[in-house]
Amino acid sequence: MMLTDKVAVIYGAGGAVGGAVARAFARQGAKLYLTGRHLAPVETVAKDVASAGGSAAVAEVDALDEQAVDKHLQSVIDKAGRVDISFNAVGIPNPKSRVPLVEMDIEQFSLPITTYTRSYFLTARLAARRMVANRSGVIMMVTATPSRTGTPFIGGGGPAMAAVEALTRSLSAELAPQGIRVIGLRPQGMPETGRIKESFGLYAEASGMTWEQFQESLASRTHTRRLSTLEEMANVAVFMASDQASGITGTVVNLSMGSLDD
Ligand SMILES: NC(=O)c1ccc[n+]([C@@H]2O[C@H](COP(=O)([O-])OP(=O)(O)OC[C@H]3O[C@@H](n4cnc5c(N)ncnc54)[C@H](OP(=O)(O)O)[C@@H]3O)[C@@H](O)[C@H]2O)c1
Repeated sequence: MMLTDKVAVIYGAGGAVGGAVARAFARQGAKLYLTGRHLAPVETVAKDVASAGGSAAVAEVDALDEQAVDKHLQSVIDKAGRVDISFNAVGIPNPKSRVPLVEMDIEQFSLPITTYTRSYFLTARLAARRMVANRSGVIMMVTATPSRTGTPFIGGGGPAMAAVEALTRSLSAELAPQGIRVIGLRPQGMPETGRIKESFGLYAEASGMTWEQFQESLASRTHTRRLSTLEEMANVAVFMASDQASGITGTVVNLSMGSLDD
């Protein structure tokens, strides 16, 4: 197993990405501390983990609230003695209608930028402060392809993802000398997730396509001619969190199956 006894804290663990990563980390032997803004979806993931023989504690933590994140991390240190992996998979809904940037108000534009940068900065910074003591740890974040490619009608979503990717590199430059790696994952939309069904559904409707036709059109731009799955994304997360990836930091893994060039 690749993560035996690693202590992993996951933010947004009740979501599609957070839940898939939690299940994959547990299968590889990690001890999980799962958090979310609402407890019910996180508890569902923890039950799955427990019924597969894994270990998962749950807590309600707003990943935008510095004190709540700090208090929770301290409780993990008190129980487990350390934090090895911090994985932030928090996501806020994409815009539900196609508002062009020129018609968007500043609050709507700024919301993803302030939300993602605040949450990803806070969880990374507070984990790093604990990891430094052991000179070991991995901080992981999730971004999306609009960080690198022009994507219409997502408001500040693209700039937010680009900012998080820059944060990944800057944190790594400061923390890697102290034994802490910082890695981003940049999946393409995974059609089995609720977030993508909703946002791709809007695009499909606006393009006069069915949901299936729209997926096929996206898949045709990949080298594999198919879109990736949550399980594939989670398997990469496991490898990146493991000691096997000790040679990788300060980068964002491109999971677009070739549709986005580096
Ligand atoms: N799904 C994809 O195919 C895909 C592809 C590329 C990138 N991504 C990125 O991956 C991330 C997660 O996506 P997802 O599909 O997993 O979304 P999701 O299913 O909507 O999950 C997001 C989770 O974040 C939680 N959350 C939101 N604000 C929070 C806060 N302040 N504190 C704690 N938890 C909070 C939500 O909890 P509540 O529901 O309780 O608010 C929810 O459980 C996003 O950044 C997204 O852009 C996803």
